[in-house]
Amino acid sequence: MSLVDRHFLDFQNITSKKVSDFFSKVNSLNLNQQNEPNGKVVAHLFFESSTRTQLSFNMATIKNGASPLNFTPETSSMKKGETFLDTILTVEAMGVDAFVIRHGFEDSLKNDIIPHLKTPVISAGEGVSGHPTQALLDSFTILKHRGKLEGEHVLFIGDIEYSRVAKSNFELLSLMGAKIGICCPEELMPLSNEFEFEFFERLEDGLKWSSVCMALRFQRERHKGNLTFDFNSYQLNKNNLKKFSAEGIIMHPGPFNRNVEITDDVLKDPRSVIWNQVSNGVKIRTVLLGEVLDL
Ligand code: NCD
Repeated sequence: MSLVDRHFLDFQNITSKKVSDFFSKVNSLNLNQQNEPNGKVVAHLFFESSTRTQLSFNMATIKNGASPLNFTPETSSMKKGETFLDTILTVEAMGVDAFVIRHGFEDSLKNDIIPHLKTPVISAGEGVSGHPTQALLDSFTILKHRGKLEGEHVLFIGDIEYSRVAKSNFELLSLMGAKIGICCPEELMPLSNEFEFEFFERLEDGLKWSSVCMALRFQRERHKGNLTFDFNSYQLNKNNLKKFSAEGIIMHPGPFNRNVEITDDVLKDPRSVIWNQVSNGVKIRTVLLGEVLDL
């Protein structure tokens, strides 16, 4: 049984049982056992910048015995006016077996792209609509370090409104029975009340409540106008983490701005699992791609 039927854009139509079965598969994956080359090709189309998502999908493609086809928008025919859809259709016509796509338009894969494609698509982050593989690797990391997801108190800090990571995490954590907390300035509160959450005005209070805390990068490239709040009130540092459980875990999806949303010393705190998130990303994406490629 696979996690996804064909495409992977969000957690609609995915059950908690499917996620748990998927995590068991990820747990038993041996990344040192590489698949034999199978001739499959995965197109990695990143229309927005990325380091860990892009490279971990590359790793996942290679570990599956497939080959990555990479793309650089800056030197592509998009510079000559070719559209997003026509670029994707051109790559499909070359005969690729799957797409991994990151782009900046809201919900565009579902509405504008997939209806025209025969090839499976995995979202690698879509505007502020979602980043489902990040949510999978985050939940898997929580499960590994905390032993369970159900009943965990997961606090998201900072730029909630513009975070596609938070959006997908809310979807998956709600599905898996975790409790969500948020601590953010009023200007960056999520607009929709689609998910149930506890709101904490003071970071210390949120940290006392939580078993998992996740700092988020301020998405400056997506903000409209100047923000007026004090960034320091949403910074994870040595001082406020005294209020956080000794058994809790500290997360950040990356990329982090050192000493803005998280201080240098917190990155080295024994409770930090930030580098584990990166490693787990390779495992999650390897299993997911293996399923999508029918290996
Ligand atoms: C995030 C993203 O691109 O949404 N990064 C990631 O994929 N790990 C978070 C961010 O850019 O802040």
